Amino acid sequence: MDLKACVLVVDDEAGIRESLERMLGRAGYEVCLAANGSEALDVLRRRKVNVMLTDLVMPRMTGMDLLKASRAVVPDTEVVLMTAYGTVDAAVEAMREGAYDFITKPLKRAVILKSVEKALERQALVLENQALRAELTGARQHGAIIGQSLALRRTLDIVNQAAPSTATVLVLGESGTGKELLARAIHRGSPRSRKPFVAVNCSALPESIIEAELFGYEKGAFTGAVASREGRFASADGGTLFLDEVGELPQHIQVKLLRVLQEGEVERLGGRSVRVDNRLVAATNKNLAEEVAAGRFREDLYYRLNVIAVHVPPLRERLDDVPLLAEYFLQKYAQKNAKPVIGFSALAMDLLCGYHWPGNVRELENVVERAVVLSRGDVLGEEDLPPEIHGKPGGNGRSVTIPIGTPLDEVERRVIHETLRHTGGDKRLAAQLLGIATRTVYRKLEGEKVAKERGAK
Ligand SMILES: Nc1ncnc2c1ncn2[C@@H]1O[C@H](COP(=O)(O)OP(=O)(O)OP(=O)(O)O)[C@@H](O)[C@H]1O
Ligand SMILES: [Mg+2]
Repeated sequence: MDLKACVLVVDDEAGIRESLERMLGRAGYEVCLAANGSEALDVLRRRKVNVMLTDLVMPRMTGMDLLKASRAVVPDTEVVLMTAYGTVDAAVEAMREGAYDFITKPLKRAVILKSVEKALERQALVLENQALRAELTGARQHGAIIGQSLALRRTLDIVNQAAPSTATVLVLGESGTGKELLARAIHRGSPRSRKPFVAVNCSALPESIIEAELFGYEKGAFTGAVASREGRFASADGGTLFLDEVGELPQHIQVKLLRVLQEGEVERLGGRSVRVDNRLVAATNKNLAEEVAAGRFREDLYYRLNVIAVHVPPLRERLDDVPLLAEYFLQKYAQKNAKPVIGFSALAMDLLCGYHWPGNVRELENVVERAVVLSRGDVLGEEDLPPEIHGKPGGNGRSVTIPIGTPLDEVERRVIHETLRHTGGDKRLAAQLLGIATRTVYRKLEGEKVAKERGAK
């Protein structure tokens, strides 16, 4: 895909903006214009800009301030400063703050084009290095558990402690939270890591064959048993057997499983007992204690399985893991689909961080995969997200995520709207929650309407 590089020109003089627009447009760049620093930040927040060419001396926000702000908000954008007062001091300071280059007015066409071209080269190199690094870490961390939230770290502490032992581990958590991923990590971290990890999904197997699958059978044990077969317990001998959705096991299998756990022997259907050596990890998204209380799950088996319990927190309780996970999945699927996608727009990330993720990490992975596959640009925007996430910042209704660099009046607007959504549009209640007068809420909303109408004209 050959995307035109985008150059943002920032200058308070209209004449300079226009001549640069013409010159850069002819050179094949896509050009955006801004008359001052805040307009420029607006553009930077909204779209991907490769190079920003900014005047140093401007009223209100100077080029140097804009440079610092842009490094904080969009560090990948290369900045070239232009000034009529090209002193060495200013140049040195600009470079120290991360500007790529510094050119002096009067502007010369060749100098500008050269500088922009060089800035783009450097950017490509930086991004390439980043991609390479990501690829390397990605390869190294196959099955990596991504996330740094306190809640996840607590869970991982228990996983790390439990892994080297032979103790049975019960992994508990909602669907899509990463239970299987953790079960595999427990196996990898154990002395059995070179032996097999065998996963059995108890809810996927029809009741009639669970027994034969788990314990194996002899030839002729039942109609259709034309040859003998070892069960999953035997396949996992010396290694780890992962019983997924263990809460779905029918009662009569629960009895047999308990016996295996007690005696360390499995009895093949129609045959003799064989000794097996398994480390058992079980998982369920059900509340097993409740299942026991309701008489659907055997209490004795529950205690056998629940030697070490690992609770995997739902994603909505560790939303600070969302950016890392989203970036991780973005790289994974960009690579897999050979798409030149490099990141999320600030607003898209904001929406991801505000959603309540009923399907947990699996849902996030699916959302990012879909967005990458359908994307047309190199940055995923809000329009690439599905409707349930799109347009619903703070989807759990209780929090608003605001990216660094958001103007205060925008922060205020967002907080007011989210509070109103939370109160179901009740302005009086919203005002109480916000600690302001009801009429202030009306006034702010009215002000917005006026601004919008003015903008529409
Ligand atoms: N912390 C994480 N880091 C990276 N990938 C993750 C993480 N947590 C979950 N995933 C990914 O999310 C998907 C769902 O995870 P997994 O299958 O382990 O969840 P589960 O809890 O077993 O779900 P279910 O109850 O539906 O079986 C997988 O593709 C997994 O690799
Ligand atoms: Mg699973």
